[in-house]
Amino acid sequence: MTSVFLPGPRLYLRPIEREDAPRIAAYINDPQVRRTLLAHRPMSVAEEQAFLEAREKDEHHVVLGIARQGQEELIGATGLHLLDFRSRRAELGLMIGDRSAWGQGFGTEATRLMLDYGFGTLNLHKVWLHVYAHHAPAIRVYEKAGFRKEGVQRDQHYVEGRYVDAVLMGIIRSEWTPLTLPSAAPEPAEG
Ligand SMILES: CC(C)(COP(=O)(O)OP(=O)(O)OC[C@H]1O[C@@H](n2cnc3c(N)ncnc32)[C@H](O)[C@@H]1OP(=O)(O)O)[C@@H](O)C(=O)NCCC(=O)NCCS
Repeated sequence: MTSVFLPGPRLYLRPIEREDAPRIAAYINDPQVRRTLLAHRPMSVAEEQAFLEAREKDEHHVVLGIARQGQEELIGATGLHLLDFRSRRAELGLMIGDRSAWGQGFGTEATRLMLDYGFGTLNLHKVWLHVYAHHAPAIRVYEKAGFRKEGVQRDQHYVEGRYVDAVLMGIIRSEWTPLTLPSAAPEPAEG
């Protein structure tokens, strides 16, 4: 039976099961997907299963699979990481691993669903992330979802034979436009 945790217009987010691990590992190993992730080591199915089990037990992380409405198999995964309960902040992770699904708005929808969950359920104040400065599609996704650029970390990562900058991005609760929770719209900012 399909387990829908966060329903969206065209996607839904659901828990990642052990049986999903081979697909997720294959996505992470795909050079075209991996080249814009921090991941750089080979990912076995056993390692992916161990990663998911560790995340399940750690309340500082919420990891979800991304699937199209009406389909069971995952096209990617997303997560809120390093949940900070004092500052009410978390880091967003996103991967649409099925390359045939790129460019159809799924990355943006998954990001907005995670923001609805982060702000509307976890009561976060801020969601942040870092992205390679040359990764224009991802920066576009995050801007469409409401993130703003906050700074540049020069020569932060060594990628494909060169040092590249990283861009820090963030969205504060007052900047969030809910996708699925219209009644949860934040109060307008003062001033
Ligand atoms: C980056 C990623 C999440 C994008 O997902 P997606 O489902 O293709 O994203 P969307 O379709 O929602 O939006 C992509 C946007 O980037 C734009 N885009 C694509 N190529 C671009 C380019 N070279 N320059 C600028 N914008 C570009 C698209 O036109 C679209 O914007 P638009 O709606 O204004 O036209 C996906 O490619 C992915 O998961 N890649 C591998 C893992 C990864 O890099 N994760 C992010 C790590 S920070």
